[in-house]
Amino acid sequence: MSGSEDPKQTNREKFQAEMQRTLEKAKTMTPEELKFSYKGILYPSILCSEATFQAMEGFEAREDDVLIITYPKCGTNWAIKILHQMLFELHNKEPTIDQAMFEFGKPEKYKYLNEQPSPRVISSHLTHENISKSLFEKKTKILIILRNPKDAAVSYYHFSNNNPVLPSYSSWDAFFKDFITGDVIYGSYFDYALGWEKYLDGGNVLLLTFEDMKTDLIAELKKICDFYGFSLTDEQLQKVQENTTFQSMKDKSSESHGNLGNVFFRKGEIGDWKSLFTEEQSKELDAKFEKHLAGTKFGEKINYPKYCTY
Ligand code: A3P
Repeated sequence: MSGSEDPKQTNREKFQAEMQRTLEKAKTMTPEELKFSYKGILYPSILCSEATFQAMEGFEAREDDVLIITYPKCGTNWAIKILHQMLFELHNKEPTIDQAMFEFGKPEKYKYLNEQPSPRVISSHLTHENISKSLFEKKTKILIILRNPKDAAVSYYHFSNNNPVLPSYSSWDAFFKDFITGDVIYGSYFDYALGWEKYLDGGNVLLLTFEDMKTDLIAELKKICDFYGFSLTDEQLQKVQENTTFQSMKDKSSESHGNLGNVFFRKGEIGDWKSLFTEEQSKELDAKFEKHLAGTKFGEKINYPKYCTY
């Protein structure tokens, strides 16, 4: 995408070189410079821009696009890898993968995406209100991955402090305060979930959770296959499963995510929230969940009593 690229570089090498340049630039910026607000939500200024958000209107969705929707730290990279691996098994060639988020990069990216062959795997942290309307017009199938908010918060805290692109925090308590009020990059976990919840009935949506994937990955992989109409043999499913375990992805993370490999693939567990939450913080989040998500489909799916109580 930039003039300084070596034409012989593979897509993965280009992605990694771009990531390296981005990290170097981020290290020179202050926490305040690393974020900006657009339509009331904070975004990483080094990865997103108003011009790119506006250019998104030119994106032409297709019925056979694979759209993965996640709040940050809820299993985005895991889902991307699963879909990538499934499509590879089906077509025996690499699908079009936008390795960065749909909303990252230069405004020209949508023109580039429009020219790419199907199937395209696209992933985004955007809210229902802010993502390209074309995806709804074309009734693109949407895979939403949820994760319990306590583990998502702890994962997000570590990620913010180890990824130079995001503003870092002086303490867990400081992060928790911002997480609860939604003053973090990509805004409130709760508003995000409520926004997508509104789309559930009219939409073409499959809702999965990080916790169910962790508990029985093959069962969740089968749901993805049914949803997208992929006919994978048991042997192919097994291969997808083996290539998408936490360990397997972590082992290959320097290849897939360069210097940030260990930052993206940290622990991959359920229940790590207990390592940082105080009892008081736990109660505060319980109350927030009760107020906003109790009784919703997302709330049910998250299985809060099982994953978020002591
Ligand atoms: P932790 O920080 O709790 O380890 P995202 O891809 O949305 O940024 O989410 C990152 C979180 O998903 C991290 O959580 C990461 O370790 C976890 N993760 C990534 N791949 C995984 C896998 N194959 N199995 C389980 N967890 C995975």
